[in-house]
Amino acid sequence: MRIIRTPDEMRRWSFEQRAKGKSVGLVPTMGALHAGHKTLIEASAARDDFTVTSIFVNPAQFAPHEDFDKYPRAFEGDCKLIEAAGGKVVYAPDAKTMYPEGYATYVEVRGLQDGLCGKTRPHFFRGVATVVTKLLNAVMPDRAYFGLKDGQQSVIIQRMVKDLDFGLEIVTVPTVREADGLAMSSRNAYLSKEERERGLGLSRALFHGKTMLEQGEKDAARIVEETTAMLQSVDVDYVELVDTVNLKPVEKVEGPVMLAVAAFVGKTRLIDNIRFTP
Ligand code: PAJ
Repeated sequence: MRIIRTPDEMRRWSFEQRAKGKSVGLVPTMGALHAGHKTLIEASAARDDFTVTSIFVNPAQFAPHEDFDKYPRAFEGDCKLIEAAGGKVVYAPDAKTMYPEGYATYVEVRGLQDGLCGKTRPHFFRGVATVVTKLLNAVMPDRAYFGLKDGQQSVIIQRMVKDLDFGLEIVTVPTVREADGLAMSSRNAYLSKEERERGLGLSRALFHGKTMLEQGEKDAARIVEETTAMLQSVDVDYVELVDTVNLKPVEKVEGPVMLAVAAFVGKTRLIDNIRFTP
């Protein structure tokens, strides 16, 4: 496994591979990897000659009161998982390399960054868009892979890549779940047994909403109301039914939609969503 720590070395390596006609895939992560991340790495390994997995807990996407310091870090275990999934290169810069003193440039995706998670985490998508831009510039991949688990994030990255002419392909991968439905997340490690049980409410509520959609329900208010009613055991931040391009709430289901939930279980904030196309 090759571990690269600086953007210069990363770019040099990428130039070399591309000069040899090899394709490069990038899987951006914050580490503490699980089967969801593994699916992204496997998707790239199946398609690209080389897969670069980045591991960087990005301070720019955490507010001061959030969990940056206690976010799980597990570098050695992560490298093993990456190797088992077919990844050959890890890009793991440190925070000083990414944001040296005097750092001043940020990327914003107006409109898309403001709703859903952006309402209670106004700093968040600016931090995500900025770090993903930096990772793409360092790795210069042919393709980059994102999970639909972070539904708003994947839409924002797709728009950013289009608007800023990155000229690469964004591949999205369906959400990987535990056997009982809970969406895999590095933050699940925070949950006690009792909290995990309550956290299951998110996927149960979403599956109920999905059944309504599959049975032909078109009235968004009714779907949001019934989904919310199933979330008694958690502290709901939002339940919204939005279109999958502009992330605007819909009144009637006429095209592809995303039913998205964010909720606190104790101190842990969980998000999950399902997509549906009529
Ligand atoms: P992180 O939460 O580590 O997730 C890295 C990638 O794995 C994201 O694309 C995310 O959507 C995907 N992922 C996480 N859980 C998943 C699951 N259960 N099923 C499928 N995919 C899943 O998302 C981030 O990191 C950061 O915001 C990042 C993009 C790396 C920028 O810092």
